[in-house]
Parts: sequence; C-alpha cells; structure tokens
Amino acid sequence: MNMKTEVKVVDGVYWVGAVDWNVRYFHGYTYTTPRGTTYNAYLIQDEKVALVDTVYAAFTGEMMDRIRALVDPEKIDYIIANHVETDHSGALAAMLKAAKNAKLVCNQRCKDGLEKNYFGNWDYSIVKTGDTIKLGKKTLTFLEAPMLHWPDSMFTYIPEDELLLPNDAFGQHLASTERFVEDYDEAIVMQEAAKYYANILMPMSPLITKKIEEVGKMNLKIRMIAPSHGLIWREPQKIVNAYLRWASGEADKAVLVAYDTMWTATEKMALSIVEGIRSEGVPAKLVRIPVSDRSDAIADCLLMKGILVGSSTINRGMLPSLSPFLEDLKGLRPRKKVGAAFGSFGWSGGGAESVDKILREAGVEISAEPLTVKYMPNAEELKKCFEFGRAMAQKVKA
Ligand code: FEO
Repeated sequence: MNMKTEVKVVDGVYWVGAVDWNVRYFHGYTYTTPRGTTYNAYLIQDEKVALVDTVYAAFTGEMMDRIRALVDPEKIDYIIANHVETDHSGALAAMLKAAKNAKLVCNQRCKDGLEKNYFGNWDYSIVKTGDTIKLGKKTLTFLEAPMLHWPDSMFTYIPEDELLLPNDAFGQHLASTERFVEDYDEAIVMQEAAKYYANILMPMSPLITKKIEEVGKMNLKIRMIAPSHGLIWREPQKIVNAYLRWASGEADKAVLVAYDTMWTATEKMALSIVEGIRSEGVPAKLVRIPVSDRSDAIADCLLMKGILVGSSTINRGMLPSLSPFLEDLKGLRPRKKVGAAFGSFGWSGGGAESVDKILREAGVEISAEPLTVKYMPNAEELKKCFEFGRAMAQKVKA
C-alpha cells in the first residue's frame, strides 16, 4: 500500500479520490482538459461507514490506498453511486469486492445503467428523493437530480455537516494537490468551472435554475459543496451564483468572432469585423477554430453575448473544419445569444449560408443576414464588414 496524505473535508468526512494529472481529453475527444482532472470520492466515518462515489477504473489502486489508510474496506456499510458514468463508477466492481459487506445505494435509473454497463450481480438498495440513511450522528439524504447531467444523476447531502455532494454539478476539470478552491487560484477555478458548465451542462440550463430553486425552497443549509471533479467549494454561494447567472443566459457584453479561412479572404473579413466591434467599445475575441481549442471557444460562447461565425465556401457549403464547433454549439444550445454568419466564396456561394443555418438551429437569435464577399474583400466590402461588426456590438450593448 502506498502512503497517502489524509484529506479531511469536515470531521468524519474524507476525500479518498484520485488526481488524474495527465488526462487531456474528456468524453472521447470532445472536451480538452489541459489542466487534468480529479475523480472525487468521499469516505464518511460514523457508527456506520459510507463511501460516496468511486473513481475511473485506472485509479482504483489510488482510491483503495486512500481508503485503507482510514478504514478496512470490509467495514464499509454503504457505497453510494450518485451517477452511473464510468469516471465515477469505474472502480465500483473492485470496491464491492473489497467492501464485501457493503450495500450499493443508488436510484433506479442508476441501477439500470450500472447493470447494463457492468453486468454485476450486486446487492442494491434503491433510494429516491427524500430518502435517508442514518450512519450514527450523520445522515445521508438523497436528492435526485435527473439530467444534471444524466437521467440517473443524484446529490447526497449530509445535513449535520451542511455538506452537499452533488457529483458532477459544480465541478471543474482541474488536477491539483490542493482540495479546496480557496487554497488555489480562484480565477483559474472559475474559468475551469465555466468551461465545464459550457461543455457539459449548458443544454440543461433551465433544469439547473429549477433545481437550485428547489433546493432553496427545501431550506437546505449548505456550508460546503464537494463535487466529483476538481476542488471543493467552502464558499458555495460563489459557484451557485455563477450557475444561476450562466443558466439564465446572462453574459458579458462582448463578441466572439470564430472563423476558418481558405485563402485569407474570410480572415480579412473577420479582422475588419473585430475592428467594427471595438469601435463601439465592445470587447471582441477572434478565434480561428481549427487552430484554437474548440471547448475553450464553447466556454466563450457561454460567457459572451454575441457570436459571429465566418467560413469560406467549399463544395457549396462551409469548411468542414468548422463543423465540430458548430455541431457542439447546436447540441449545447446556448441561451439568449445574438449572432450572424459571414464568409467568402469563389463561384457558387453557400459557406456563410450553411453557418447561418446551424446558428439558427442552435437557437441563436440571428441579427443580420449572412454577409458574403466574392473572392477578396475590396475596400468597400471591408467597410461593410466593419459596419457588420459595429451593428453586432450595438446589438450586444442594447
Ligand atoms: Fe464526471 Fe457524468 O461524469
């Protein structure tokens, strides 16, 4: 067994997860994680012992070492599975083998998912919202949170500690030796939390608002939020307020200009558009999609009100290099965005029009018809691009 430093969250609750310093992509190759991540699991020691969530299978040994430093796994009475996804359930089979007296506690949808994922003949105890397990002085209270972000997602709450263990919600992909937000650079934590929200939770925004309101009405006191990824919030209002703002669609009065270009004509348009935006005193960010990080650009779409997307034309459509970004945007459905398409063409046209179609499908309010230029933009056309940017800036400011 490797030596492990004990990490106490509150008296009787310990972090027993794993730090994945080297993961650079999540959800396949959808989401980049340049700062790595953590898989957080929590051990609760009382008269009875409970483990909340596990880790990705490759990190089973690290989690097991942390648990063994605190308790013999055979003494674990309950293993709570808040969520079926592999990064939290990957070590479940090994854990259930080691914790041979433990019941596996989850909701029905999680059980269905675990059975289909792992085919284990496990001793389940099914819970639903409001159910509790008394461990001694501490109580585990369960709150189902369907579609935050999977149908099976569930929160575990310990009222005596005012501690919420909401699994994926309020997480960040961030590897660190520190476990608490306040011990790290908070600006970086918030940046990663926004990227996480944008790439994972954005389409569920209406449900997030509803769930936060529901928890508010239940008068649950929450002193700390310990998610399943990244750092623990000792001042939970910071992330709760950020979630409320992101879920409402409130964003900075700023414009993202994302584009790709074949022979620089569309790029010249983009540069003039950015000048037009700036002329109105509105910040703009220029991102060439294939050479920039797509999931960072998605985070920009969460944080900025305006989205302009440009493409050259190929085969009567947009450049395929833009498709992953735009398909992501379509699926993630950012709220209350204004946007428009632009781009160049040689003979047929169709690039900017294809972009316009997807922006509409993504739910973006289109502020102008696609702005197109044949071959290279001349001085007059560059002026039109400048005005196109200005008009967007005015719209964003309004
Ligand atoms: Fe971190 Fe939905 O898994």
